[in-house]
Amino acid sequence: MRLLDQLPTPLLLLLASAPAAQSFYLPGITPTNYKEGDLVPLTVNHLTPAQSARDTQIRSAFSFEYYHSNFHFCKPEGGPKYVSESLGSILFGDRIQTSPFSLHMGKNETCKAVCNAEEFEPRDAKFVNRRIWQNYIVNWLVDGLPAAQPYFDPTSGTEYLQPGFLLGSVENEEPRLNNHYDIYIDYHEVRKNQYRVVGIIVEPASRRDSKRRGNQDFSADCGEGGPPMVLSEKDRTKVTWTYSVYWRPSATSFATRWDKYLHVFDPKIHWFSLINSAVIVMFLIGMVSTILIRTLRKDIARYNRLDQLGLDDLNGNSAEDGIQEDSGWKLVHGDVFRPPKHSLALSVLVGNGAQLFMMAGFTIVFAVVGFLSPSNRGSLATVMIMLYTIFGFVGGYASSRVYKSFQGTKWKHLFILTPSAVPAFVFSVFFLLNLFVWARQSSGAVPFTTMLVIVGIWFVISVPLSIVGSWLGFRQSIHDPPVRTNQIPRQIPPSTGYLRLVPSMLLVGVLPFGAIFVELYFIMSSLWSNRIYYMFGFLFLSFGLLIVTSAAVTILMIYFLLCAENYHWQWRAFASSGASAGYVFVYSLLYWARMLSFSSFTGGLLYLGYSILLSFLWFCLSGSIGFFACWIFVHRIYGSLKID
Ligand SMILES: *[C@@H]1O[C@H](CO)[C@@H](O)[C@H](O)[C@H]1NC(C)=O
Repeated sequence: MRLLDQLPTPLLLLLASAPAAQSFYLPGITPTNYKEGDLVPLTVNHLTPAQSARDTQIRSAFSFEYYHSNFHFCKPEGGPKYVSESLGSILFGDRIQTSPFSLHMGKNETCKAVCNAEEFEPRDAKFVNRRIWQNYIVNWLVDGLPAAQPYFDPTSGTEYLQPGFLLGSVENEEPRLNNHYDIYIDYHEVRKNQYRVVGIIVEPASRRDSKRRGNQDFSADCGEGGPPMVLSEKDRTKVTWTYSVYWRPSATSFATRWDKYLHVFDPKIHWFSLINSAVIVMFLIGMVSTILIRTLRKDIARYNRLDQLGLDDLNGNSAEDGIQEDSGWKLVHGDVFRPPKHSLALSVLVGNGAQLFMMAGFTIVFAVVGFLSPSNRGSLATVMIMLYTIFGFVGGYASSRVYKSFQGTKWKHLFILTPSAVPAFVFSVFFLLNLFVWARQSSGAVPFTTMLVIVGIWFVISVPLSIVGSWLGFRQSIHDPPVRTNQIPRQIPPSTGYLRLVPSMLLVGVLPFGAIFVELYFIMSSLWSNRIYYMFGFLFLSFGLLIVTSAAVTILMIYFLLCAENYHWQWRAFASSGASAGYVFVYSLLYWARMLSFSSFTGGLLYLGYSILLSFLWFCLSGSIGFFACWIFVHRIYGSLKID
């Protein structure tokens, strides 16, 4: 029980300390200094669907490469080139390429054409108009900083930046293509003639009369104040892409240039939910400690006293009978360590859950400490992959220790299944979904080579590590369980009420879900629209609350289960604690109904597929929390019994 008594203290200390609400990070890249007139690189990333400002709906799940032929964006001379990226960045859809824009530090330029006029066929126009209707945004990077549009957050009264700017707008049911860009770049002077880029805002506009003027220097008429650019779906339309650049001196330093992007939405809601969950946790801890420790101590004292009596009294039968009449967890001491059915599957799941748990925990800690700055694109995903790979060792070890305690014999199966079963399932679903994305010509499709790299990393690093872990767990001797298991299994009285499988799962799962569902909302918003998630302080606290809640509520459930003389606690602990995954899944369906309106079948399929994947991984993770908590609990309480 010490475990449970000690956990809340550090958590509370953390609750009281500062990093929760403030976004704090170490800059991930070294600053580049530019002299006046130096070329500042503008790179282009994919086009992504974003939340519509009017009805906050997200209408698509696919992203498109910037140079997708239907968009007719101007290409640089000699064709665009890919900029090298991290693995995580590629996985999360970044496709960064060079662009034809030439921005010179400190030099204002008004109205330049990017290239000669482009001609849109009706087919292209249909495609682009549809994307405008779906609220797609264009993503650019200037000196590694995403071009943004400013927004106002009424709840906190502050302005923040969101990466990307609109491809077009819909007015009077008419899609208008933004073919002119006013680019505002903030620069900061560090020394004389040494400047750094500290901000970029793009204000796009739709101008039909934009035309390239003359033949030299790409100067143009920008058609300001004229009619908007509407792509005809019946005829060919000529479009000239134009832009103006304005350089503005700024007092913002390089180290803080990301601050406006890392906006905490609705901090009140986060605090509210945290305090809410904290209260629930307190309540649960109170329940667990009072009910369990007190009644248990009393029980144990009484049982042991009866035992003593039974030994002293030569006619021990009466005392034995006394215990027999007493219904309670002690009665199942001869069965509680009986290996469960399908012990191999449970061990494999628990091992994988432990691996995911370690990965999630370490990633969140790294993020809170500030190692995963968003200025280092894709670092979050890369670190997650790396940690998952490395913690294959933990997964293997955990699964073989658990299997050993279940007196398993199919060791070869365990060694192979632990590193392969769950990843293979995840990878096949991922691969299937990727086929759909690929068929839609979306750039979100993970390239085949990246897939190979992932399989390679998994095969070369994760699998051997997991096998080594399993081997160590297999070699290590295991303590005998504190009580002996009887030869003949005890009859289990039929379960009633909330102790039946499904009600117990529903009951136990809801509380851990309550601890994280607010963060889940913000994580989903950043996954499916273009927001940057940077509320790791809150996430860290929620994760802590999740662990404590899962552990406490599962222990309570298992205690009542054992009191009802049902000793099948192993699967029950895993399943009921993992049941919060069911809530996560239902929540993602609700999120779909409220926030997303995919017009295509594949969009919905993609969303559903990823939700199932997420929920499954969640099931393993939270299930293993409950399992290990009950494991410790059961060993403790039966360890304190004196039998024979
Ligand atoms: C460039 O334009 C910005 C915004 O209009 C202005 O503040 C700045 O002074 C201009 N810079 C120069 C060198 O003219």
